[in-house]
Amino acid sequence: MSVTVALTGQRVLVVGGTSGINRGIAECFARAGAKVAVASRTEQKVEDTLVALQKLGAEARGFCADVRDAEAIKAGVDQLGEEWGGLDVVVSGAAGNFPALASDMSANAFKSVVDIDLLGTFHVMQAVYPHLSRPGGCVINISAPQAAVALIAQSHVCAAKAGVDMLTRSLALEWGPEGIRVNSVMPGPIDGTEGMARLAPSEQARQAVVDSVPLRRLGTPEDIGRICVLLASEWGGYISGAVLPVDGGWSLGGVSAMNNWH
Ligand code: HXC
Ligand code: NAP
Repeated sequence: MSVTVALTGQRVLVVGGTSGINRGIAECFARAGAKVAVASRTEQKVEDTLVALQKLGAEARGFCADVRDAEAIKAGVDQLGEEWGGLDVVVSGAAGNFPALASDMSANAFKSVVDIDLLGTFHVMQAVYPHLSRPGGCVINISAPQAAVALIAQSHVCAAKAGVDMLTRSLALEWGPEGIRVNSVMPGPIDGTEGMARLAPSEQARQAVVDSVPLRRLGTPEDIGRICVLLASEWGGYISGAVLPVDGGWSLGGVSAMNNWH
């Protein structure tokens, strides 16, 4: 049996799709033949990503918006949804992170991550809901191991990403009867990303992470992108409400090694 995953003509929006893992996801969708739109705060990052997506042969769109600004997200999504006549796949992955102990953090610091990761995801969900195809719409929220494993200096991220996964599960219940699937993908440590630069800033810390992953390697944006494409395809058609680790086994326990650094 040969297996081809093609998403020719599918209309895909990746929020936070202009760098790192999410950009890798956007590029995987472009390679699979989809039309791909990206959104983030920085105009230059949006423009650079559009050029890259077009080089891959995709029809590409983009807009600038902060996920904390519900009206700006709704305006960008409405314009895109009207232009394309709907959306088939939405990946919501904008996030913020910095290491800080709860006792050292201001309430505003904690709130900034909750506002980006959790409230921002809610804003994206509300904005895309009217535009999603029914049946067949597919939503993928980008989680993190912090949603399941408590980490020192990550209380804000742990709380926010656990909330994202419960939002995923709740919306899978609410939107399932309309034929809309909602899942979370939980990446492990992904090489060369902003997240890893912030949490494992030295070569020694990076190596400690490698050693803590059962597969003994860091992931790549493509490792995550391929699974998102698979989930969005007919092969993922009966998966909804799942939180899927794509992490070389890290969330089985190795991720806790990060607590040794404090
Ligand atoms: C303590 C900090 C801080 C730090 C910011 N703050 N950095 N507190 N330690 N290192 C505080 C600020 O003092 C302020 O509180 C509040 O947080 C908001 O900061 P701003 O700079 O005003 O916020 P803003 O400009 O909105 O930027 C949001 C941000 C920023 C999250 C702080 O870093 C950002 O935009 N990040 C996006 C990119 C990113 O983080 N990518 C990595 C994602 S990786 P006060 O009280 O002073 O007002 C990920 C998971 C990785 O999510 C998992 C790996 C395994
Ligand atoms: P990244 O490169 O910093 O990507 C974050 C993306 O979101 C960028 O496109 C950024 O663009 C956008 N963004 C940030 N804040 C935003 C906001 N307020 N509104 C709109 N867009 C915003 O980070 P990454 O490390 O690749 O992480 C990507 C995702 O994977 C995140 O959800 C993260 O939690 C998750 N994750 C990462 C790792 C890892 O190893 N890196 C592991 C597990 C989970 P602008 O700056 O232009 O806004």
